Amino acid sequence: MSVTGRKELITPPGIVAAKGKLPIVCLTAYTTPVATLVDPHCDLVLVGDSVGMVLHGMPSTLGVTLDMMILHGQAVRRGLKQALMVVDMPFGSYEESPEQAFRNAARVMAETGCAAVKLEGGEVMAPTIRHLTARGIPIMAHVGLTPQAVNAFGGYRVQGKGTDAERVIRDAAAVAEAGAFSVVLEKVPETLARRITGEVAIPTIGIGASPACDGQILVVDDMLGMFDAFRPKFVKRYAELAQLAGSAIETYAREVRTRRFPGPEHVFAEARQTTEGGSS
Ligand code: KIV
Repeated sequence: MSVTGRKELITPPGIVAAKGKLPIVCLTAYTTPVATLVDPHCDLVLVGDSVGMVLHGMPSTLGVTLDMMILHGQAVRRGLKQALMVVDMPFGSYEESPEQAFRNAARVMAETGCAAVKLEGGEVMAPTIRHLTARGIPIMAHVGLTPQAVNAFGGYRVQGKGTDAERVIRDAAAVAEAGAFSVVLEKVPETLARRITGEVAIPTIGIGASPACDGQILVVDDMLGMFDAFRPKFVKRYAELAQLAGSAIETYAREVRTRRFPGPEHVFAEARQTTEGGSS
């Protein structure tokens, strides 16, 4: 059952209203078939810029473009009936100014049909979040480990340890106060996630941030065992689809080489004339 308890399109206010009630279920999707699979089970589906690493083999999310996000967003839109669709703003498409962010976010919403966009950054992005939300663009914020800043962080490290906790708390408070409808907390210690979740009025969506958050998100290819370039500690593998696919492909290759595929059931009989003059 979704957070609204009904089979209906979930909206950003619906996600806010879920805080403190049912845990909010989120996954990423990048294609129509996967969106169709996750939609009946998820409250929110994120077209994450992780698409660059997961589907395009990029070394980080930094090379992802607005056009890529729009193309994948359009594909996901076709697979969703109920879940709230959020599209990630890629690196370089929103940081320059609130005006740049509005122009690109409006394009993403108009061309994909998503209901909200996500952007990374805390205090520094608060004026932009305020600008966008005041103009009708619902924002999912993202603090803690923000992968677009991987070079500044010096790697995909846990954020908010020790005295650094205050920085992450300030970031989460700033984006909530600026009007974001939810905030992703990535790779932060449990005590910090619990404190932020208790202090901010909007739902916290954790990824590597413990069950203390109001909801959880994972990269769908990670939890299905389809993406092996990274194996973060916070990912639970619910399936091993890459292994399954690998052995299916191996069997196909062997059967082609030994002429066991195609079998008689895959072969068309001799063409015969139909009444329409075509052949079957
Ligand atoms: O890009 C992404 O997939 C994300 C999340 C998993 C939070 O930002």
